[in-house]
Amino acid sequence: MAPQSAIILKSSPIVKESLEQLAQKSKSLKQQGIVPTMKVILVGDNPASIIYTRNKKRFMEKFGAECEIIKLSSDLTETDFLNKVKSIVEDGNNHGCFVQLPLPKHLEHIDVGELINPLKDVDGFNKANIMNLYKGEKGENALIPCTPKGIITLCDYYNIELSSKKVVVIGRSLIVGKPMSMLLTNHNATVTLCHSKTINIEEHTKSADIIITAIGSPKFLNQSHLSDSKKQYIIDVGINYDENGKLCGDVDFHNVIDHVAGITPVPGGIGPMTILSLAQNLLQAAENRL
Ligand code: GUN
Repeated sequence: MAPQSAIILKSSPIVKESLEQLAQKSKSLKQQGIVPTMKVILVGDNPASIIYTRNKKRFMEKFGAECEIIKLSSDLTETDFLNKVKSIVEDGNNHGCFVQLPLPKHLEHIDVGELINPLKDVDGFNKANIMNLYKGEKGENALIPCTPKGIITLCDYYNIELSSKKVVVIGRSLIVGKPMSMLLTNHNATVTLCHSKTINIEEHTKSADIIITAIGSPKFLNQSHLSDSKKQYIIDVGINYDENGKLCGDVDFHNVIDHVAGITPVPGGIGPMTILSLAQNLLQAAENRL
């Protein structure tokens, strides 16, 4: 029997469609005297962070928002860092701001979400915004973490049902795993949150309808984690490099492709969805100013 062909859950059609809506909203805000503006605080010269922030800036400018990357030296003191962030947050000329992570070692202990005014918190890391997630927020009109929000948008676009489905999330980070589990719960999924101390991860993944990997481990998930049904969907959040220096996700794409109903590619899957959510959060924050 010829292998069933899996749907490649690309972000490109979603981004294309959404850009038109973002441009409309941005235009309407401008007519009301508001130019949506974002400030990105980038500390040091982490190569991945430089690329990510550049991509974010380019995307904001595509639909008519303004975005400035404020570069700070990796050896600035904690006091200078806190003062700089405070002055950007208090500046009335922007609607959204965030600190790109990771921070250099001597600043790592700082809870950056708490430095940002919840109304400008386009990352959704401030306690007030996290509390909204706990209370049941589904993500349409609130500032919630970008990658989880983007995953919901992608499932919605490809008609991947979440309600009453078994979803296994692998990874318990503050940026993806934990908020993802909460957001999925708000969308009526039954969620299992797995992590590095989970025993027999296959037991969980084999019985899942949807598997979301966010662990930063190249090609970790393979056919041995899957059921024989070929009905499972896989969402790969990982951005890693394999042994040949080639970009890859947390999933061994070619190993699983003939055994799933659908899978997000890396690149071209969840990365652009995260940036799309950031843009939606910025316009939400700017609209809230009206
Ligand atoms: N570094 C990797 N992902 C993110 C993110 O979503 N927000 C911030 N601020 N930094 C990141």
